[in-house]
Amino acid sequence: EKGGYDHFMLKEIYEQPDVIKDTYRGRLHANDGIIQMAGVEDNLEKFLNADRIIIVACGTSWHAGLVAEYIFEEFARIPVEVEYASEFRYRNPIINSKDIVIAISQSGETADTMAAIKLAKENGAFVFGVCNVVGSSISRETHAGAYTHAGPEIGVASTKAFTTQITVLTMIALRLAKAKGTMSVSDFHMYLQELEIIPEKVKEALETNQRAKEIASVFKDAPNCLYLGRGYNFPVALEGALKLKEISYIHAEGYPAAEMKHGPIALIDEHMPVVVIAPKQGHYDKIVSNIQEIKSRSGKIIAVVTKGDTQVRELADYVIEIPETSDALSPLITTIPLQLLSYHIAVMRGCNVDQPRNLAKSVTVE
Ligand code: M6R
Repeated sequence: EKGGYDHFMLKEIYEQPDVIKDTYRGRLHANDGIIQMAGVEDNLEKFLNADRIIIVACGTSWHAGLVAEYIFEEFARIPVEVEYASEFRYRNPIINSKDIVIAISQSGETADTMAAIKLAKENGAFVFGVCNVVGSSISRETHAGAYTHAGPEIGVASTKAFTTQITVLTMIALRLAKAKGTMSVSDFHMYLQELEIIPEKVKEALETNQRAKEIASVFKDAPNCLYLGRGYNFPVALEGALKLKEISYIHAEGYPAAEMKHGPIALIDEHMPVVVIAPKQGHYDKIVSNIQEIKSRSGKIIAVVTKGDTQVRELADYVIEIPETSDALSPLITTIPLQLLSYHIAVMRGCNVDQPRNLAKSVTVE
């Protein structure tokens, strides 16, 4: 049932090229310049008239929401807020009938996300679901939605659900950008082509497995770890840290790289591993100077870089090379070596990778 893999988590990490393809199949027609998703087409006017989008979710799904915030605002110029469902439901939030609430949930059973949806509906918002489990409670409670096609995710640590959620949300943003004219025609076509070949690049990124294993063996006993990224890769830093803490029980934190100097840099010494997501596209020069800041305080730098990178390589203690893609799509690639790194560290520490202590696959109590 694990298809020859030692754990469901590893199997699910390796399924990502296929399930991303399954998620865009029939929806993304790159050569024709078309993105078609029934749940979006049927409600296109609502999306186009929306004053803002509020994304509610928990855990990894919330991280996918953060990536989507950057993508929606950049592509479709719609203001987006991303909220933990558990906070949203209890803080008397301002919700209007011209708001669209997007609820993201792999299981479709998360109690806090469900409660946030009910509250949004009571206040007249249109609620759109991005779920993986067909017929789940959240998929039934929402007005419309688009499924991810990740297939069953058994490992408690969410991996393929995350990348397929980003795939769906990116397609929605592109569809809206086209309808609103907020993206040039040439960029629109470029993104469609890029998205179509993303599974190939994910496959290539999976080739970092051996490298991730080597690095894991160096840092497996670290008590702490920091993850840094900027822009689209800031949420990937949060997700990398969550993966490490939940399966290896190593204390980890993700930060936007520039926030370091506002406090966390005090933690840096020669014992602190710092994973920096530093692809060529994006805020490269800025992240290079963040890396210099860590290096001058003797932090141990593990950098995720674009193939062929030389500048970061000179500064970092370890590099993991990934294929190049556009900045906005890079989370689909940069997240792969971080999943592998956590996986190997957890295995080396003898942890129960698929069923970490204190955790359940879906959190159906608040
Ligand atoms: O099923 P959901 O997407 O609603 O679950 C949300 C979180 O409970 C989930 O992502 C959790 O954080 C995972 N264990 C992360 O790996």
